[in-house]
Amino acid sequence: MAKMWAGRTDGATEKIADDFNSSIRFDCRMYQEDIKGSMVHAAMLAQQNILTQDDADTLIAGLEGILQDLDDGNLTIDMECEDIHMFVEAVLTERLGDVGKKLHTARSRNDQVALDVRMYLRSQIDEISALVKELVVAITDKAEAYKDAIMPGYTHLQRAQPITFGHHLMAYAMMLLRDLGRLADTRKRLNQSPIGCCALAGTTYDTDRYFEAEHLGFDGICMNSLDGVSDRDFCVELMSAISILMMHLSRFSEEIILWSSWEFKFIELSDAYTTGSSIMPQKKNPDMAELVRGKTGRVYGDLMALLTTLKGLPLAYNKDMQEDKEAVFDACDTVKMCLQVFAPMVATLTANRENMLLAAQKGFINATDLADYLVKKGMPFRSAYKISGQLVAYCIQNNTVLENLPLETYLCYSELFADDLYNEISLKTCVEKRISQGGTSVASVEQQIQYVKEALV
Ligand code: ARG
Repeated sequence: MAKMWAGRTDGATEKIADDFNSSIRFDCRMYQEDIKGSMVHAAMLAQQNILTQDDADTLIAGLEGILQDLDDGNLTIDMECEDIHMFVEAVLTERLGDVGKKLHTARSRNDQVALDVRMYLRSQIDEISALVKELVVAITDKAEAYKDAIMPGYTHLQRAQPITFGHHLMAYAMMLLRDLGRLADTRKRLNQSPIGCCALAGTTYDTDRYFEAEHLGFDGICMNSLDGVSDRDFCVELMSAISILMMHLSRFSEEIILWSSWEFKFIELSDAYTTGSSIMPQKKNPDMAELVRGKTGRVYGDLMALLTTLKGLPLAYNKDMQEDKEAVFDACDTVKMCLQVFAPMVATLTANRENMLLAAQKGFINATDLADYLVKKGMPFRSAYKISGQLVAYCIQNNTVLENLPLETYLCYSELFADDLYNEISLKTCVEKRISQGGTSVASVEQQIQYVKEALV
């Protein structure tokens, strides 16, 4: 196929080299950004008297037509082209003749691709953020419904202290709020326009980079042309933010998987978000959560792939950088798929209050509160801690729980014990008294829900 860049060479490359070199398979998804960028470029060239207004109008109308035809499916992208930039220019020239060849004045594919990727990822960030918000809403709604459902809180996966299911869920809402912050930060740094950096050194034409930046919704321009065409930090940064987000989804998935097991039976996922086994009729598998957990590894891989590609690259543009797109597109596609299934999976799950409470009643998770009871009666914490531990040991030996020990037994360990201890160590009291900010009491969880709701608007 004749190359647009034939000149220095005859452009007669081998088919296998063309296929290897080509990026149109994956950069075709940026056709809208590419065309919009070109329309603004043509307008800028006219404003600066680099092109006549007539030529610019013709180019803009031609580009508009291509955009329309691609949107409507009346034009198919030719996969034989090297990349989306070449394809659009080829169609334009085919439709307009020589005027089409004027579009690429004062521009290079190096700044063009940097522009397209930034614009594309900007809208990806907006889409991902909207999906994260939907998940946060699903979580806070669930937390509201279960703000008084007592369950064991764990450390080392050992029952530790009583908490509520609502409190536990709200921990994930907080993580996701930070993820939203990271996405917003990335967007801010990404939103600088590289167009006009040209191949690497800028241009001798009297261009107006601010005009293009402004018309394409950027906050400013990349201030060094070498950097503008070589910077892929924004891809790395976005994939880092997505990796952290996936890490959160993966931890949540792991708990959903555990909680769904017969060993826990704390929650039941809706049938719509589980699968059966082809051989074991009793199975109800949390496949969605497992896949999210699994795909987290894939997203980390995308991040590592690009970091490794960029490491050691000299300035300015190198073809290696074409590898940015598949990685970052895959990370965006994957996290969006995960979020789309995660939010309704959370929204439709039900918690088994009885089983959670049952689990909370075992494991002596009120032992801290028993120690605190003695502290409040004047005993130093370390001594109280010891007595509480001895009472737990006594219970284990006698196959009972703290709530069921008679007062006489308590009195053998300390004179400070009295009848009010039973209320003090009831799980409900343990939860209700944890009114510290961020704590597990219903009032504290309500505050957390309110905080998240306000952060979302
Ligand atoms: N397809 C290329 C990429 O994705 C576009 C830039 C090509 N530039 C070049 N000098 N060959 O990076």
